[in-house]
Amino acid sequence: MSKKIILSGIQPSGNLCIGNYLGALKQWENLQNEYESIFLVVDLHALTIDQIPSELRNRCLSFVAQYVACGINPDKSKIVMQSHVSSHTELMWVLNCFTYMGELNRMTQFKDKSKNTKNINAGLYTYPVLMASDILLYQADLVPVGADQKQHLELARDIAIRFNNKYSETFKVPEPYISKNGSRIMSLQNPESKMSKSDKNLNNIISLLDDPKTIKKKINKSVTDSGSEIIYDEIKKPGLSNLISIYHSLSLEPINTIEEKYVGKLYSDFKNDLSDLIIELLNPINSEYQKIMDDKNYLFDILKEGSDYARYKSNKTLSKVYRKVGLVKNK
Ligand code: TRP
Repeated sequence: MSKKIILSGIQPSGNLCIGNYLGALKQWENLQNEYESIFLVVDLHALTIDQIPSELRNRCLSFVAQYVACGINPDKSKIVMQSHVSSHTELMWVLNCFTYMGELNRMTQFKDKSKNTKNINAGLYTYPVLMASDILLYQADLVPVGADQKQHLELARDIAIRFNNKYSETFKVPEPYISKNGSRIMSLQNPESKMSKSDKNLNNIISLLDDPKTIKKKINKSVTDSGSEIIYDEIKKPGLSNLISIYHSLSLEPINTIEEKYVGKLYSDFKNDLSDLIIELLNPINSEYQKIMDDKNYLFDILKEGSDYARYKSNKTLSKVYRKVGLVKNK
């Protein structure tokens, strides 16, 4: 039997951070051994927010290099730049015609994003349809995403079911794979909100490309709470609890073992050790990243291989869809 397919993607905006690593990339690295894997850099989605072209261009390549540096192995997985494969936008048009405005009006991410910007464009509104197209084109079985993407995935499933019911089985109905770990990594200065790669305040996040000095500085500055005991209590000590969560995710030590280890110790002792753990994780990623960025040919080869594969695979679905809805084939 052929392997099941997983597909996921990250929008190239902001700086990939340890939240993305723990919540996504680390899972992808494991999943690529069991599944046929497709990982997208969703550059077209990035256009829904204001971008500076030269920065976006660099960031797209940098994201590919960071995927690889984090262990996404191009021999096992396909890494695909969304805009390199035109079937994403082609299928999106068809799916737009099978998505109700009422459904898009209910998307909480659209509501949140439009609160914080003057640029409420139609792309931001139909963003979830492009995401559905990313997924359905490849007949993905499983889609690893953070909890905040669950609603978008539900929509993709609804669209797939609706289309299948009307025209006979066409799309695989994808299952979400919601990672528990990492989606709970919170901002360092404001532990009520998620650590987000798009955060303008860089003190809130540990970027995958931060150097050791910056990491130490950010962890030292991170908010902790009054009191001096190192115990996990999300309500009374949200800041410290977030740091303990990060420690736990990196060391894999159970929370209570960590608490026991730091009985009678200072916040600063704990923060120093946590910085060391993060540095230990990011050091090899950083040197690998530098090597890859110095070899642009290698980067473009990865993308070429990804898009060749993706075009072949996605065109099969797209032609089926065009045929089923009644479009005439070009000779
Ligand atoms: N919307 C997703 C996010 O912000 C990114 C994304 C786009 C995605 N297309 C996808 C994730 C397809 C999984 C599958 O995280």
